[in-house]
Amino acid sequence: MAERFGEHSLKAVGVRIDAEHPEGFIFDPHQPQLRVTDLGSVRGDGIFETMLVLDGKLRKLQPHLDRLARSAEITEIGIPPEESWRAAIDRGLEEFKTRGGGGDNISVRLTATRGVDGEPASEDPRWAGTYWVLLTPVPEKVMANRLKPISVTLLDRGYDSKASERAPWLLLSAKTLSYAVNMAAYRWAAQHGFDDVIFYTSDGQVLEAPTSTVLLLTKTADGTPKLTTPTLKTGILPGTSQGSIFAAAERAGWELGYGPITPEDLKAADHLWLASSLRLVSPIERIDDTEFATDEDYTAQLLDFLKEDLASSYPQEG
Ligand SMILES: Cc1ncc(COP(=O)(O)O)c(C=O)c1O
Repeated sequence: MAERFGEHSLKAVGVRIDAEHPEGFIFDPHQPQLRVTDLGSVRGDGIFETMLVLDGKLRKLQPHLDRLARSAEITEIGIPPEESWRAAIDRGLEEFKTRGGGGDNISVRLTATRGVDGEPASEDPRWAGTYWVLLTPVPEKVMANRLKPISVTLLDRGYDSKASERAPWLLLSAKTLSYAVNMAAYRWAAQHGFDDVIFYTSDGQVLEAPTSTVLLLTKTADGTPKLTTPTLKTGILPGTSQGSIFAAAERAGWELGYGPITPEDLKAADHLWLASSLRLVSPIERIDDTEFATDEDYTAQLLDFLKEDLASSYPQEG
């Protein structure tokens, strides 16, 4: 299989975690690893996190571990303790560097699946599933598009803003492996000439992009910038990039706001971005037929906020 991968991707490193190896052991991600009956592959029944090594530092580790624990709770998938993930990540980073992968722009992905149906890997629920860390170079396409202005289309997500409250079994705010719908939305966007997507509910509330959080900037009467992001009440994923940007913006004296946001509010904003761990921030220059001014200074400011990595406590929606 290895010949199908370019030299760049051969630097990828996997670290498997199980009850016998709580600190993880290295595996070759280009060789088969997963049983075909693993519920992660059969039903997309698993959770994950993707984080970034930037300027030689692993970014927002604690918020990502916290969100993994939150997804585990929502989906009722047992996961190993935090120190196990930390040890496996360290081991993977060492190995990645040894293989000449460098120390920067590494994507670090944590995955936990429910494991093989009826055959728990351990009697202890914390080790019953399948767990691994995957380190790869950030894809070249993501690197090339960082900070570039993007066009976005608004797409109906097909449920209303109360669905998350009414139907918790939809697991809306967990970061599960079930991203087929998100990827289909990307294909739709590409086929219609757009770079990305912003989802909205059937009753007209802005949600998120398939793999990013939406940020709006408006200026208040006295000229103070105000950053707003859609409310979490609709069941969107709490973004760690958004949290980190908000923490630094608050410290810089900016105002913060949380939706509900309508598509009309989006169009009335001064500037808009999509934010995520690997892409960082992308200014939006067009939503369907509406053009937006992009502002390089504000984009650079958001990037600086993100790089501050104020991870300990993010401002919370009231
Ligand atoms: C649905 C969704 N929303 C938002 C985000 C952004 O989250 P973060 O900033 O923590 O990467 C992601 C990240 O992959 C995502 O999948």
